[in-house]
Amino acid sequence: MEKKRFPQDFIWGAATASYQIEGASKKDGKGDSIWDTFTLGKGNISDGTNGDVACDHYHKYLEDIAILKELNIQSYRFSVAWPRIFPEGFGKVNQKGLDFYQRLVDSLLEAGVSPAVTLYHWDLPQKLQDIGGWENRDTISYFEEYAQQMFQALGDRVSMWITHNEPWVVSINGNFFGAHAPGKKDFPTALLVAHHLLVSHGKVVQNYRQQNQKGKIGITLNLSPTYPYSDSQEDKKAAVLEDGFLNRWFLDPLFRSAYPKDMLELYQPYSDFSFIKNDDMEVISTPIDFLGINYYSCNVIQYDESNEFKTKHVIRENVGVTDMNWAIYPSGIYDIIERINREYTTKDIYITENGAAFPDIIEKDGRVHDQKRIDYLEKHFSYLHKAIEKGLPLKGYYLWSLMDNFEWGFGFSKRFGIVHIDYQTLKRTIKESGYWYQKVIANHSL
Ligand code: FCB
Repeated sequence: MEKKRFPQDFIWGAATASYQIEGASKKDGKGDSIWDTFTLGKGNISDGTNGDVACDHYHKYLEDIAILKELNIQSYRFSVAWPRIFPEGFGKVNQKGLDFYQRLVDSLLEAGVSPAVTLYHWDLPQKLQDIGGWENRDTISYFEEYAQQMFQALGDRVSMWITHNEPWVVSINGNFFGAHAPGKKDFPTALLVAHHLLVSHGKVVQNYRQQNQKGKIGITLNLSPTYPYSDSQEDKKAAVLEDGFLNRWFLDPLFRSAYPKDMLELYQPYSDFSFIKNDDMEVISTPIDFLGINYYSCNVIQYDESNEFKTKHVIRENVGVTDMNWAIYPSGIYDIIERINREYTTKDIYITENGAAFPDIIEKDGRVHDQKRIDYLEKHFSYLHKAIEKGLPLKGYYLWSLMDNFEWGFGFSKRFGIVHIDYQTLKRTIKESGYWYQKVIANHSL
């Protein structure tokens, strides 16, 4: 088979998030986050675990950076734990928390790995939740204060910033499904939270520009192409609604300065949208430098009378699934990039997360033979290659995840890493997929 070559300047990265890997949950003055609280709730985490220790990356970051280097990984996407910087949410800065990220960034640069920083990957300071969290409009300005602090501290060395990771998950999983912190189950609250997240994003982008910072700033959305299960009018309509719920509710405000009309109508019984203030939509659509897309799977949607929004997710027969029971659908990564470019923005696109969970084990030879993950990645990479061939502005890819970690409501029961973590000993073992990725990067080709 002919080799699929990637451009020399295509960025190959790996991603993690603070609460999922750092541990040291009470160390050096860190305040609690909503995940420290949520994990205490009975039944919230399927295996009853929490992120108190996780991968202990807070202490083992040098070992982890050595792995990044060994695997040729060019860029590392991580997030900052807001309550390490502001234990109270705002006001007094915790210098020791800041120092950790200074050390991390300096060590990454020394290893030749460029840092990509996510400001909010879900660990809101509990102190802010106590006064309403993202439902409280004041949280927007606290987020600005925190972002400002991070730009000041790291802006000279970090050239890629992501304001929010997956505002859909934050608002919907956290406030409508109740499956994530803070664990609410109220759709109007989710709409309010989503709006405040979006406004806070726009404000922070504006602040970044005002400071003449040299790097690039964008946002990461979890996007999935949404296909109707059948050709029936009902299924088609259901797929359009699901697309509105998941994708357009965030894409339209960011790139068209308005919420989608059909969804506003549908949501009317839940909200009067009085939370949309004067110039909010303009703020939200402040131009960004790139869009980050997290892609794991597609959505196949069927009309369902019994469901509140009349939609139901189905997995087609003969489709492989990962350990999350997510359908493996590699061409969807191409479809979503192509669509964004055609319908929303011609700006740069990064895949900021993509990967798969499988129940990996260390075998007798001491290695982790995760061939299924390699297959998953290889198929997705071939569609990334197609996107580049077609001239789409795809500039880089971040694999989720560098290492096995705390998978939110599933605790440590799901392994996404290309590095295996033994949670008893915290030993790191590079999986076969890690060595495979190392070669792809070295050869710039599949
Ligand atoms: C995404 C999250 C990330 C990880 C993957 C599997 O939704 O951004 O933290 O949990 O899913």
